[in-house]
Formats: sequence, structure tokens, C-alpha cells
Amino acid sequence: MSLQNAQFPRRSLLFMPGDSLRKIQKAAGWEVDTIIMDLEDGVAQNRKEAARETIAEALRTVAFAGRERLVRVNPINSGFLEAEIRATVAGRPDGYIAPKVEDAADLRLLDRILEQAEDAHGWPKGMLRLFAMIETARGIMNLRDIGVATTRLEGLIFGAEDLAGDIGAVRTKEAWEVFYARSAVVTAAAAYDLQAFDMIYADFHDLDGLEAESRFACRLGFTGKTCIHPNQTPVVNRVFSPRPEEVERAQRLVKTFAEQQAAGAGAFTFEGKMVDMPMLRAAERILTRAALRPPASAGSQ
Ligand code: COA
Ligand code: MG
Repeated sequence: MSLQNAQFPRRSLLFMPGDSLRKIQKAAGWEVDTIIMDLEDGVAQNRKEAARETIAEALRTVAFAGRERLVRVNPINSGFLEAEIRATVAGRPDGYIAPKVEDAADLRLLDRILEQAEDAHGWPKGMLRLFAMIETARGIMNLRDIGVATTRLEGLIFGAEDLAGDIGAVRTKEAWEVFYARSAVVTAAAAYDLQAFDMIYADFHDLDGLEAESRFACRLGFTGKTCIHPNQTPVVNRVFSPRPEEVERAQRLVKTFAEQQAAGAGAFTFEGKMVDMPMLRAAERILTRAALRPPASAGSQ
């Protein structure tokens, strides 16, 4: 797998209500890769317009020190979408998140609106990034079309709470009720060369539970996880960064693989187990992730 947009790891993506300038300002100082200023479900109906203004102000005034700045808009059929983009785009966010994406047409419409905004500002076409939240049964069924709807799309975000509501499942800590959908999202992301982000962990006081869920998500192939509280981002960053011993083992495996290939062996024994091409790919993936630097320390802004 090539890690899409590989110079930019997104391990932790922190949601905050778009009408809270305080939270946006605070998040700009935290250990977080991506800041998501929300206009959708984190904002009350009667605060939607205030939130647009607050996000526009934050984009103008807050020093985000290289952290990626995304805005989550309301769904296509909400009637809010165009006004939300108009109000926030001048602040030049890095991109937008579309919630409850159900089919490719949803993303194409948003793609056109973003293209018009880029034209109007004289920005390069495709500069504004796009992410799709997959959190309905129809979204899961249409992943094939959604994944290729627009080249602007950089990642899929799995939303477990909405999905559970949509299919009539009851959320549990084990999350088996959403396992099929969660796996479908990570598989589609790999198929279409997108990054995949796992669901939020709502109980933000339970950091052990968050760590266990994050480890499982990492093993499933997710590249990062959405967060709702600043307590969560250091845990998520740690889990989604390869550990030194993993990196060291991967380096040894890659070296041994090259030696074995040169000696004419495709499969061989490494630390007591059979190793062949798939394990080489897994090791290379760890090394790619280890070489990535979060945007804050890359000094991209
Ligand atoms: N982003 C930025 N700052 C946050 C934050 C977040 N997601 N969550 C909490 N903080 C800040 C708080 O403002 C507080 O700082 P302050 O006391 O200086 O104001 C500090 O971190 C500690 O917060 P705490 O008191 O533990 O939590 P809270 O009661 O203020 O907030 C929530 C709890 C759940 C309301 C809050 O975490 C939140 O808004 N989360 C995101 C909700 C959201 O966006 N949902 C939609 C997507 S799922
Ligand atoms: Mg949702």
C-alpha cells in the first residue's frame, strides 16, 4: 500500500464545536495532527450561523502552527452547505469534511462547489482537500462509487454512532455491531488509495479503553483515529506511531529479505516463522510510517 499523501501523517483528528473559539484556540496548542472545526452535529441548530462566523474568525486569527485545519460542513441536503463554504473558505482551510456521504453524487456536488471557490480566489485546482464520513448503511453499500467520486478525496472517516442508529444496532464497547462496516471502510480506503480514520471513542475519561480500541483499529489497517477530547490525542498519536522495536524488526526483516532474494529464496524463516512477500510489504509499511513527521514538527506553516 502507498500511504496516500504520505508526507502528511494524520494520526489524531480532533473534533471541536465550530462555535467555540476557546476550544479552537486551545486545540491549536495541543499534540494533534488535524483540527476539525465542526458545523454539523457538534453545533446546536440555533448556533449554526454563529459557528460559521467563529470558524472564519479562527482561520483568520489563530496560529495553528502547521496543524491541518478542516471544517466539517452539514450534509448536502441540509440546505446549509453553500453558505457554510462561502462563509469559511476565504480563511483558506486545508479542506472540508462531508458528513453522512451516501453516494458519489454527494461528493461530486461538493467537489464542484470547492472548485468554484478555488477559481474565485485564483487558487490551484484541487488545493482544498476533501474527506468523506461514512456513517450510513447506504454509504457502506456505495463505497465503490464514493471511493472514486473525485480525485480531491483524501480519506474516509468511519462514523460508528450514526451507523449504529441507521442500522438499528446498539453500540457496545466491543463494537462488534459495527465491525462489518468498519472493515468495509478500511478496505475501501486501501482499494482507492485513501487514508482511513477510525470512529470516535465517546468515553473520554477511559484512556485504557481508548488505547485498546485504537490498537485494534491500527491492526485493522486504519491510519488514524478521530478524537473528541484533548486527553485522547496523545494516546492516539502514540498508538498510530510505530514503536522503536517494531521499526528495528522491520529494518532487519527488509535486510534479510534482500539477502534471501539474492540467494534465490522467496520464502524463508525469520525469527522462527515463515516470511515471504506479504510480510515484506507489512515491514515496508512500518518503515514508511516511521519516516513520516507530523505537520507541526515539519514546520509546514
Ligand atoms: N477541542 C478543543 N478543546 C477542548 C475539547 C475539544 N474537543 N474538549 C475539551 N476541550 C477543552 C475545554 O474547553 C477545557 O478547557 P477550559 O476549561 O480551559 O475551557 C479542557 O479542554 C478540558 O475539558 P473538559 O472540562 O474535560 O471537557 P468539557 O466539559 O469542557 O467538554 C465535551 C466536554 C465533550 C463537550 C468536549 O470535549 C467537546 O466539545 N468535544 C467535541 C464535541 C464535538 O465536536 N462533537 C462532534 C463530533 S463527534
Ligand atoms: Mg456523525
